[in-house]
Amino acid sequence: MTDHPGYMSGFGNHFATEAVPGALPQGRNSPQRPAFGLYAEQLSGTAFTAPRHENRRSWLYRLRPSAEHPPYRRYQGAKLFAPGTAGEPLAPNRLRWNPLDWAEEPEDLIDSMVTMVANKDPAELAGVAVHVYRAARDMERYFFDADGELLFIPQQGRLSLLTEMGRLDVAPGEIALVPRGVRFRALLPDGRARGYVAENHGALFRLPELGPIGSNGLANPRDFQTPVAAFEDVDGAVELIQKHGGSLWTTTLDHSPLDVVAWHGNLAPWTYDLARFNTIGTVSFDHPDPSIFTVLTSPSETPGRANADFVIFPPRWMVAEDTFRPPWFHRNVMSECMGLIHGAYDAKADGFAPGALSLHNLMAGHGPDVASWRAASEADLKPHRIEGTMAFMVESCWPFRPTRFALDTPALQRDYDEAWGGFPKAQLP
Ligand SMILES: [Fe+2]
Repeated sequence: MTDHPGYMSGFGNHFATEAVPGALPQGRNSPQRPAFGLYAEQLSGTAFTAPRHENRRSWLYRLRPSAEHPPYRRYQGAKLFAPGTAGEPLAPNRLRWNPLDWAEEPEDLIDSMVTMVANKDPAELAGVAVHVYRAARDMERYFFDADGELLFIPQQGRLSLLTEMGRLDVAPGEIALVPRGVRFRALLPDGRARGYVAENHGALFRLPELGPIGSNGLANPRDFQTPVAAFEDVDGAVELIQKHGGSLWTTTLDHSPLDVVAWHGNLAPWTYDLARFNTIGTVSFDHPDPSIFTVLTSPSETPGRANADFVIFPPRWMVAEDTFRPPWFHRNVMSECMGLIHGAYDAKADGFAPGALSLHNLMAGHGPDVASWRAASEADLKPHRIEGTMAFMVESCWPFRPTRFALDTPALQRDYDEAWGGFPKAQLP
């Protein structure tokens, strides 16, 4: 694979980039005759009239208008991608899944995608779905998601995402976001790749407010990397798949849809290295709620109640005194879907391997297992550094519903409740 053509730093910045000098109009978005006969197209990420600080859109200058395509018809592959969730009443049980096996036949990113849990119909413009991919073939076709933005969380193997707006190279420990509607294909520099995708149907992910933390900390804007313009000038029949209304659709173009020669605006893909996260925690006692580890948030219409938060549990120092340091027992009104990129998570002694997934919906009691509880209760509380781990959580105010596959797969740990068995009863005086 060739060297990456380059990135621009910042989150939500108004970028301007051209792969061919002179392709980007100056001073106007849609001149009567764009340079070289390019076609101007606006891509909106928010309603036209969204408040200025939330308004996101970009102008694309391309070889052909993306309006030029035959009708879409239902795509018959990717049977486990967005099949809808199981129809029966949602059981209140805690669920955990082992990492999914690789498919027997090598599949590309789209066919390998498995929807595990979801909430809300995408047409409601709210909710989030969590998928797992286990791809073993480069994509020779193109995809876009009309239902939401895609947050890629690689766990094993790199992805090279060739998007309309440039190329993202992303490795485990990094994340990448492809905005709603942006076409891309995924190459696998390591031959195969496994990871998670959070598909956000709601308000765009943004950096959380910092409040009393001040003007620095958590994910800093300058660490987000947006690609410079890069395009494919390829004629010939290609397949373009889209996810729309919870279903997959396909059509055939006579050219690559990655034909954007220049673009400008503040709606753009990006990558972010989770090692850049400025982790903040207590220096006295107790520990803050895990919201202190929020990388990105998608707000709902209720202030402070996220449609989706992307939260990480990175390496960090633990220094609090007279405190139970791991996550305590809790029952929350928010619903939590967790995954593990590498290492071990500090609330579980075992059973949660890298690539695994867990679900704790609202009011489900959970927390440390006995071994973790005992170790943390008896620990000599010296400053201690949690090393070599990166767990994450997709938290939502909407309870997650598992898919039929997720409930039936042998990867489901049917003994998960036993993680909370065997606690000794407290002894009153
Ligand atoms: Fe939790």
